[in-house]
Amino acid sequence: MSFTGLIVAAGSGLRAGPGGPKTLRAVAGRPVLRWSAEALLAAGARELVVAVSDETRDAAEAALAGLGAWRTVLGGATRALSVQAGLAAIDAPDDEPVLIHDAARPFLEARHVAELLSALESADGAVPALPVADTLKRARDERVEATVPRDGLFRAQTPQAFRVAQIRSAYAAWAGPDEPTDDAAVVERAGGRIALTAGDPRLMKLTYPEDFAMAELLAGAARIVRVGQGIDAHRFGPGDRLWLCGVEIAHDQGLVGHSDADAGLHALTDALLGAVGDGDIGQHFPPSDPQWRGASSDRFLRHAAERIAGRGGRILAVDVTLVCERPRIGPHRDAMRARIAEILDLPLDRISVKATTTEGMGFTGRGEGLLAQAVATVETPA
Ligand code: CTP
Ligand code: MG
Repeated sequence: MSFTGLIVAAGSGLRAGPGGPKTLRAVAGRPVLRWSAEALLAAGARELVVAVSDETRDAAEAALAGLGAWRTVLGGATRALSVQAGLAAIDAPDDEPVLIHDAARPFLEARHVAELLSALESADGAVPALPVADTLKRARDERVEATVPRDGLFRAQTPQAFRVAQIRSAYAAWAGPDEPTDDAAVVERAGGRIALTAGDPRLMKLTYPEDFAMAELLAGAARIVRVGQGIDAHRFGPGDRLWLCGVEIAHDQGLVGHSDADAGLHALTDALLGAVGDGDIGQHFPPSDPQWRGASSDRFLRHAAERIAGRGGRILAVDVTLVCERPRIGPHRDAMRARIAEILDLPLDRISVKATTTEGMGFTGRGEGLLAQAVATVETPA
């Protein structure tokens, strides 16, 4: 179902202490706002409207750079005003769902969104909520006045789902003088019915400085390790040098290929693309395209690394095996590892280059061609 995402990021984050506006601070290398925006887009948001403050607009736009459809609008002095500024800027049919989300809750997932949209079908609003687990005390001056029954009490989180026209008119009807503490409260006061979906500790709001340490832990858990493999073979032909793993080697034969025929880098490029399910080298650099004739294969490898980085991924380690009787690889192994480390911008100990023969058997054994095989491990967002 098509929906708009409204992210409020116009607060000043006073309780989060020093370190810059909390929604722009990095968690696992990405600004908190970007986590939220990426998640809503990945969950199918048609467009994002992001309420920002005057001071943070530029930094917020930089944090959103490269994502899909988003716009920023100027928020207000309170969260409710920021929400209303965002609602006014949404261009959507009256009955289209809008998901209103605190930028400061970076770990929402597509399943949260799916549950909210489905609950909204039979309600005027849907809210993820967690039952209160701790005992509740009412206290003044650090003295308990009462123990409050927690039966039936829930903690409301975001995103919260509504229909655009309905949440707009509920806000218009809000008489005050108090401030709503969430958007569902506004619809409730207007007489609307709010459904609860399963809340999630991962939807925690980053409020205090110590919440950022917890966020780093959760961010780590939100990543998975994937493995890709690649194979390439090239035929030996006339020549006096060949390229292998980015290193030029003098030899009494060359390797035949459309590009520089560096089977090692080609296998490695395929392994990296394979680890993120991003096709293969032939798809990205068709051999039929004359611009890749004689191309230096470090370009292919760098391209694969950029594709991984573009998805928020990180290469952990790569392992290349070259299969040939000749040339001897041993004397060049360190140069090959160093060159791959340089192209991928990785420490040397993350790079392995190995070699073996096939004891005279098969096409490599007969010296007809050279085979390269590679495995890459890559960490990506889950
Ligand atoms: N928010 C907003 N406009 C405001 C106030 C808050 O868009 N005038 C946003 C915040 O950026 C945040 C969300 O509403 O994403 C939840 O608010 P809160 O956690 O209270 O954030 P801040 O108001 O920024 O923090 P603090 O109250 O500690 O100053
Ligand atoms: Mg606040």
